[in-house]
Amino acid sequence: MGNVFVFDHPLIQHKLTYIRDKNTGTKEFRELVDEVAMLMAFEITRDLPVKEVNVETPVTTAPSKVLAGKKLGLVPILRAGLGMVDGVRKLIPAAKVGHVGLYRDPETFKPVEYYVKLPNDIEERELIVIDPMLATGGSANDAIAALKKRGGKNIRLMCLIAAPEGVEVIKEAHPDVDIYLAAMDERLDDHGYIIPGLGDAGDRLFGTK
Ligand code: URA
Repeated sequence: MGNVFVFDHPLIQHKLTYIRDKNTGTKEFRELVDEVAMLMAFEITRDLPVKEVNVETPVTTAPSKVLAGKKLGLVPILRAGLGMVDGVRKLIPAAKVGHVGLYRDPETFKPVEYYVKLPNDIEERELIVIDPMLATGGSANDAIAALKKRGGKNIRLMCLIAAPEGVEVIKEAHPDVDIYLAAMDERLDDHGYIIPGLGDAGDRLFGTK
């Protein structure tokens, strides 16, 4: 089964409190989400392989380490996923960024991909799917399936907040996918909002209602 990691780092938890606060305005909300995404990226990349190199310092040669060439791909789910991409890219500037936009056909309930643009070598990349809210799990499930359909193999899912219902959907459908969270909340309400959550992440990021 996929693992679920909840990052309890004090800085992440502190910033998440202000992200949740209904009195936090759009600008501050966006900045905090960016910062938490960066801090989460630090934790998520903890297991990246490194290799030994020698570097010439101004004084001598130092045995040192660099990332061992593992290629990364970030895949935000439109639109709220966009709010976390730049924070991750600050730490991993060489990562390529793909985008996935999906909606559910209201009659067939099948996922419709209205926009998919991915790096052409996704099968070689460690992919991080990004969406702030893992609520019912529908979008993340469909986005991960869209990547697998195109050859994606090594996939992780990064969210700010999840509901247990969404986590179960992903664990069931994609047991190979590890899930990284800043918080696991209580439940979904009747409208599919996470309780206590933070409201609509897309609206709060982009100032829409
Ligand atoms: N999407 C959001 O933006 N917020 C929720 O609470 C659930 C889904």
